[in-house]
Amino acid sequence: MGELRSKITGTGSEPASKVVTNLELEGLVDTSDEWISTRTGIKERRVTTGEQASELAAGAAKKAIKAAGITAKDIDLVVVGTVTPDMVFPSTACFVAASVGVRAGVPAFDVSAACSGFIYALDIADKYVKGGAAKNVLVIGVDFFSRIIDWSDRGTCVLFGDGAGAVVLSATRGAKTGLLSSHIHSDGRKWETLYAPSHPHPNPFEKKTDHSKTNVKMNGSDTFKLAVRTMTNAAREVIELNGLKPADIKLLIPHQANVRIMKATQQRLGLSDDQVFSNIEKYGNTSAASIPIALDEACAGGLIKKGDVIILVAFGGGLTWASAAIRW
Ligand code: ACO
Repeated sequence: MGELRSKITGTGSEPASKVVTNLELEGLVDTSDEWISTRTGIKERRVTTGEQASELAAGAAKKAIKAAGITAKDIDLVVVGTVTPDMVFPSTACFVAASVGVRAGVPAFDVSAACSGFIYALDIADKYVKGGAAKNVLVIGVDFFSRIIDWSDRGTCVLFGDGAGAVVLSATRGAKTGLLSSHIHSDGRKWETLYAPSHPHPNPFEKKTDHSKTNVKMNGSDTFKLAVRTMTNAAREVIELNGLKPADIKLLIPHQANVRIMKATQQRLGLSDDQVFSNIEKYGNTSAASIPIALDEACAGGLIKKGDVIILVAFGGGLTWASAAIRW
């Protein structure tokens, strides 16, 4: 029979509908297309004009379910990586499950790991599949940073975009294909590098909280250095543990935070340009959605064939970092 393993059987993505170019941002803050393009690689991003994060997530999920050749009734777990849920509760996963027609009673929950959220969700889903508790899992990454950034702060507002990406992770047996391994990590001691305070509503017994400081805060240069070091180490971890060499890797799909972070990581890993996927110029940093959107586009573009080895690697607020190796 072979051991029980998990395998991606379908992908889907749905970036927010409105395109906002660097030129449009020039009218909003003191910035320029030239500064944003050269420092980040971003030319435009997508921004919600009213759709909810769970609606885009459901759209991406429906495409992934269709591509997997199953129906929503076959899904037996929904895990969503997000730090920008529609509501504090219910979870985005509950909204998505209801919207796509998942059976009542199926477990659905969100995972908070910022930009590493999708690989965290994938790691959890894989363990359910390997343990025999789920056969088809909807794994989603979705974030709407446009709702939590300070649109007057040029240091952060130019970087982010809104979107969703999804995969169906299904049980398989036999040859060593599918998810080879995944690895998730955190270090809460460095939380102040990158964070977004919640919107507190103090109770009558506590001191008043400052409501004005509720947007994303980032130490850009520390984040940059940590991202390069951490993504390089996380990629090395999964590559070495699976006995792989750089030449074995068809495609590295890194979290799309900044083209310079991706380039530096690529160089440290000894990979060529055509081994690293990037679509950051179109979407900016979509946090937990960046890897599943990239994976979906790489599949749609014919860049991934049966038997290819794909490495996913992410870094985000928390701090969190994560990696995964997949044999397609
Ligand atoms: N337009 C024009 N000028 C700007 C802008 C802007 N949008 N933003 C900052 N500047 C200015 C700064 O004020 C500074 O001016 P000064 O020299 O007069 O003080 C100058 O540009 C240089 O600023 P630096 O911060 O040194 O620029 P740097 O080359 O480091 O690039 C950037 C900044 C793009 C933010 C970079 O540090 C970076 O990409 N960091 C990582 C960001 C990231 O990946 N975040 C997401 C992590 S994942 C997650 O969990 C969400």
